[in-house]
Amino acid sequence: MERTLAIIKPDAVKKRIIGKIVGRIEEEGFGIVRMKLVHLTADEARGFYIVHKDKPFYGSLCEFMSSGPVVIMVLEAEEAIKRWRETMGATDPAKANPGTLRRAYGFSIERNAVHGSDARETAEFEINYFFKK
Ligand code: CMP
Repeated sequence: MERTLAIIKPDAVKKRIIGKIVGRIEEEGFGIVRMKLVHLTADEARGFYIVHKDKPFYGSLCEFMSSGPVVIMVLEAEEAIKRWRETMGATDPAKANPGTLRRAYGFSIERNAVHGSDARETAEFEINYFFKK
């Protein structure tokens, strides 16, 4: 079994689709092993996205991620990282496959409804960042 970190971003929480996204997670067979609703501070968002600190979108992304509550979850499944990325679809909702969460609910490359870890090392960092042992 593998674990990954999933976030329902502020745009999706504002749209009142937490239930739809959690429903999809359960339908896909993931176990939800941790879950919390939090309003991140700008500093917490900056720390979480530290790998992107030199990207042009870093400031805007951190501002957006701290603009309202988010739902943070640890998902568990065989190949959870890959499978959650497939369920989300491509980062840019316009390029995401039909049937993916970002295609269905994303608004732009930044306001793309959900986040998921992209590799084992990132999953470990991201899970520990929000759910300290
Ligand atoms: P996420 O999976 O949360 O990881 C980094 C986020 O940066 C990404 O989703 C997008 O919401 C955001 N982002 C904003 N602009 C870009 C961009 N040009 N390329 C990639 N990610 C971007």
